[in-house]
Amino acid sequence: MSDKRNIIIGVIIFILLMTIPIWLNLATGTSTERPELEKPKGDACVMDKEYMTSYHMDLLNEWREEVVRNGEREHIAPDGKKYDRSLTNTCLDCHPSKEKFCDQCHNYLGVKPYCWSCHIVPEEFK
Ligand code: HEC
Ligand code: HEC
Ligand code: HEC
Repeated sequence: MSDKRNIIIGVIIFILLMTIPIWLNLATGTSTERPELEKPKGDACVMDKEYMTSYHMDLLNEWREEVVRNGEREHIAPDGKKYDRSLTNTCLDCHPSKEKFCDQCHNYLGVKPYCWSCHIVPEEFK
């Protein structure tokens, strides 16, 4: 085998290795799709869906501030329903599995909220 031929084979192997993620994505067809989320309970979230998808972390911050600083525990949803401002008791009541709902997006995007070191996820919700 000539050196030139070895180099060409080397380059081809290199390109194939570098593009493995692309081939895997093509084969499984999952690359750009949104992760599958567990269907929430109830008809509506505590704010409209578009807001929740993009800004739930801001809402959680607001809830925390209101409860811890001001002792204000009541949230009124756009549909007029009242909720207790509680991560575990309220959010996880309608999104019962942190793993199948919250973590689906967070893992996919590499976000790791640090809340769970203090806020308990009840055993039955894991
Ligand atoms: C009363 C039940 C209920 C409560 C309480 C609730 N949710 Fe929801 N949530 C829903 C429903 C139902 C949807 C889907 C809304 C839709 O499809 O229009 C939803 C949607 C969402 C979404 C968007 C999901 C997506 O597909 O983009 C996020 C994020 C979310 N909720 C987070 C939270 C957080 C965080 C809390 C607590 C602050 C919370 N939810 C409290 C019922 C609830
Ligand atoms: C539709 C996808 C999606 C769902 C469902 C979702 N999150 Fe998130 N979450 C995100 C994204 C995206 C970010 C990061 C936003 C950023 O970095 O600005 C985030 C960030 C957060 C943060 C802030 C983390 C930080 O370090 O700043 C908290 C807290 C949080 N999510 C809580 C929850 C909880 C609780 C649930 C389940 C009730 C949930 N999220 C469900 C997409 C989602
Ligand atoms: C160091 C421990 C700790 C961490 C970490 C933490 N919290 Fe809290 N959080 C608390 C304590 C203590 C309270 C007060 C509990 C009360 O008064 O009911 C609280 C209250 C709250 C409340 C209102 C009451 C309730 O029951 O939920 C919200 C909402 C909240 N935190 C959200 C968050 C979010 C979102 C994160 C992650 C981004 C987070 N917390 C991280 C300790 C913590």
